Amino acid sequence: MRRAKITIVGAGNVGATCAHWCAAAELGDIVLLDIPQTEDMPKGKALDLMQSSPIMGFDSTITGTTSYDDTAGSDVIVVTAGIARKPGMSRDDLLATNARIVGSVSEQIKATSPDAIIILVSNPLDAMVQRALQVTGFPSNRVVGQAGVLDTARYRTFLAMELGVSIEDISALLMGGHGDTMVPMPSCTSVGGIPVRQLIDDARLEEIVDRARKGGAEIVGLLKTGSAYYAPAAATAQMVEAIVKDKKRLIPCAAYCDQEYGVGGYYVGVPVVLGSGGVEKIIELDLSEQEQSDFNHSVDAVKELVAAMDKLVADG
Ligand code: NAI
Ligand code: 2OP
Repeated sequence: MRRAKITIVGAGNVGATCAHWCAAAELGDIVLLDIPQTEDMPKGKALDLMQSSPIMGFDSTITGTTSYDDTAGSDVIVVTAGIARKPGMSRDDLLATNARIVGSVSEQIKATSPDAIIILVSNPLDAMVQRALQVTGFPSNRVVGQAGVLDTARYRTFLAMELGVSIEDISALLMGGHGDTMVPMPSCTSVGGIPVRQLIDDARLEEIVDRARKGGAEIVGLLKTGSAYYAPAAATAQMVEAIVKDKKRLIPCAAYCDQEYGVGGYYVGVPVVLGSGGVEKIIELDLSEQEQSDFNHSVDAVKELVAAMDKLVADG
């Protein structure tokens, strides 16, 4: 049986680490692509990873390239290409640059891997995944964004640290956009089956949610030279695994919601079933009044971001 072909666009911190996790878990054969200006960098990282295979004991191959010809016919494509925000750079600067990068990457994907499922990672995530949909014209179930798995993992980590219990016993959900407006769902958070509100009071829970909301900025503040990549890459690899193994994981992803939750045609973090068909189902929860109001606020922030991106793209 043919192994899955997984392309990772952007061989930087998130991309290369994602290649590492995917190879170690033998999810398929991996192609790591970056821009020609990086010269042999993706080849170097791929060869280095390949040379870890006898030690780690995996049979996945990893190929580094700057040519989309080598990515042709991919089953899954992870897009991490782009820049991260640096001091002095406005949100619009990041939006304009990454919209251009994700636009050109999407054109190449459409031409070389028309049947692929795309997982967007580049920021600002909620707008970039919309850009990939606009440019590829793929069915929306085949274009999905990574944010919720990471944000929820941060939340679960902080809950386990607070309670001094195994991370394995924490089940939790955050919804909404990948940013300050993400929506906690205490009603969907439990520890060993016990509703979290029986273990942590509301004020402390809000502090923990707030730390998860600002989890990306906390890491940037510590690293100083870039943003988080181990957990983002692990989150992305979990989504790749769900697709290539058709696991039908019920996990939060940025999915295209039209009628769902009354969103009206935008990507927003919601629980989905992720399998070989991509986003196979969007789970619609009965939200409380507060949750619905917080969710609407988050969707409004995503709409503003997409409107700003569309204007920047139209202005050239
Ligand atoms: P990085 O700077 O280490 O790597 C980015 C790579 O993209 C570089 O190697 C660069 O040469 C490459 N690249 C630029 N333009 C390209 C193009 N047109 N085609 C192919 N490759 C291209 O950055 P890092 O840390 O890997 O982050 C990548 C992106 O992921 C950033 O936008 C970051 O904000 C985002 N991110 C998103 C997360 C999420 O949860 N959605 C979490 C962490 C990062
Ligand atoms: C993060 O949440 C920067 O989006 C990235 O770490």
